Amino acid sequence: MSDPTTSNNPLRIVVLISGSGTNLQAMIDQIHHTEVPARLVAVISNRADAYGLQRAEQAGIPARVLNHRDYESREAYDTALQTLIDEYRPDLIVLAGFMRILSDDFVRHYQGRMINIHPSLLPRYKGLNTHQRALEAGDIEHGCSVHYVTTELDSGPVILQAGVPIEASDTPESLAQKVHQQEHCIYPQVIDWIARGRVSLQDDTVLLDGQPISEQQRRCQAKN
Ligand code: GAR
Repeated sequence: MSDPTTSNNPLRIVVLISGSGTNLQAMIDQIHHTEVPARLVAVISNRADAYGLQRAEQAGIPARVLNHRDYESREAYDTALQTLIDEYRPDLIVLAGFMRILSDDFVRHYQGRMINIHPSLLPRYKGLNTHQRALEAGDIEHGCSVHYVTTELDSGPVILQAGVPIEASDTPESLAQKVHQQEHCIYPQVIDWIARGRVSLQDDTVLLDGQPISEQQRRCQAKN
């Protein structure tokens, strides 16, 4: 990985998506409107109908489709995906609503340079239907987390989280909307940190400016 602190080369990012790509859009806007030393070098989707592909094309970013249905096994798909990703020589792989379980070999290949956003305050609600589950549990707070990807699903070290209060009138849809809004704030923040060489992973510990990240730094205040 190029070291952003010692080189003028922008961080090369490949984004993986499966759907609408609003998080991708937040990154496109960030890179267009700020001085973050990062470049989106490709967007790859496992679904040809993902709207995020259009967002990429409109922004002039190479948009590629690799359909998982064309492969016999998860391992075969992930091997092809890895080959495609590595064509772009990425420093960072960003999972932005990429709705696939990843094989261990694939995850290990990108250890320490692959991040994900998950719609819950991890370690709560790994997996699917997080908004519904938070409501059913009677939680008063929900949120989202950006974390490094490890071989255990939604369990890698957390870099940044944002919470949203749950109101009595909330539905899974209203909660999803509120969480999305926070996602669009914390994902660009993490990309900024990584691009500037401020955040890295050492063993299982997230470092911010060379020190283990504190609980306080890991928790972003909700913005409207
Ligand atoms: C986001 O809410 C993200 O947290 C979630 O998919 C959505 C993608 O939205 N990811 C997961 O659930 C991964 N486990 P987007 O396509 O509009 O960015």
